[in-house]
Amino acid sequence: MIKLEKPSFPPGWNLPNGTKILKRVDKQQFVEVFALDSGEYLYLFHEEEIVKKLRNREIPHEIFFAGGIQIVGKRYPDHNEGDISERLKKLIERRGLDAIAGMAELKNILIRDVIQPFLNWESYEKYGITPSNGILFFGPPGCGKTFIAKKLAEALRAELIEMSEGTVGSPYIHATSNNIVQAFRKAEQIAPCVLFVDEISGLMPRRDGLSSTEQYREAEISEFLMHMEGCVKKKILVIGATNFPERIDPAILRSGRIDKRIFISPPDIEARSDLFRLFLEERPIDRDIIYEELARITEGLISSDLKLIVNNAALKAMQKNIQISMVLLAQEASQFIPSISQTDLNRYLEFAKFHR
Ligand SMILES: Nc1ncnc2c1ncn2[C@@H]1O[C@H](COP(=O)(O)OP(=O)(O)O)[C@@H](O)[C@H]1O
Ligand SMILES: [Mg+2]
Repeated sequence: MIKLEKPSFPPGWNLPNGTKILKRVDKQQFVEVFALDSGEYLYLFHEEEIVKKLRNREIPHEIFFAGGIQIVGKRYPDHNEGDISERLKKLIERRGLDAIAGMAELKNILIRDVIQPFLNWESYEKYGITPSNGILFFGPPGCGKTFIAKKLAEALRAELIEMSEGTVGSPYIHATSNNIVQAFRKAEQIAPCVLFVDEISGLMPRRDGLSSTEQYREAEISEFLMHMEGCVKKKILVIGATNFPERIDPAILRSGRIDKRIFISPPDIEARSDLFRLFLEERPIDRDIIYEELARITEGLISSDLKLIVNNAALKAMQKNIQISMVLLAQEASQFIPSISQTDLNRYLEFAKFHR
């Protein structure tokens, strides 16, 4: 363990690339921050776990030697007092598809049908293949549609604009249309960009089901469709997500629009095992936890169910002042009532099959 009473580098120390340390400006348990004469700030990480994550996740970093000890650091253009832990959290957070537990088949589909076409748009075009302007994530709630959409945006190295009935919808007629125009305009400015419409069935409901007081929504839907035309060429990808795919206006799902549908199923056994690992990663746990066994006994449960099981077990462990154990987790899992029924699941499978 490295003690941090004294700065790892004294003021005036020259770094290998020519910059000079001015002074240490901040220090927390496992992180030191140094001001450099280049105007940048150097963060030094002294905890093995952090260093391991930086390496494993291929996050760019620098390696220094001080007194024969290897220290890992990263430069930032600025530094504000108190933002160390927030930065650290962001830095080691899993990004892109790497953050998605299990779901190997889904990841392959995303790579083949979404990521590669979006990133290599011109090559596809040469062969007369036009990548989708939009994709739809559908499936039961709590299975990661919102989460996966955001991680997909990271994998696409794209900015993210989020839209939903709550953020775009306005009680004033025409205001929503304006918001839609604005969103596409902004997306074009910051492209590559994912325009993510969460709960798209709320924003884009079936037009044949609109009541007479909601007729203005037709104009909004048309507005949206118009802007979607060829948007992938401007490096804008629309991603919609919904628990109710059959409530979306069918025109939205036609070819050239949101024409790629991807079913986000409840987590498979691998994903459940990984999810348990992920949810337990930062908590005090016993050594006896068998993740594969937890995955086996939670067939049919969705991600949010698993999270709840972990939270419940954690609460019990905390009350008893012990570590979270296999027994506690298995107990919670065996009592858990699945939040999604087979009937619900069948409804999604039907949509996947027939509404092409
Ligand atoms: N495959 C996965 N890998 C990692 N985390 C997941 C996965 N699936 C779901 N989650 C977690 O479950 C939570 C709920 O998912 P969410 O995206 O809100 O579901 P939905 O939008 O389908 O209702 C997310 O915040 C995320 O932490
Ligand atoms: Mg959601």
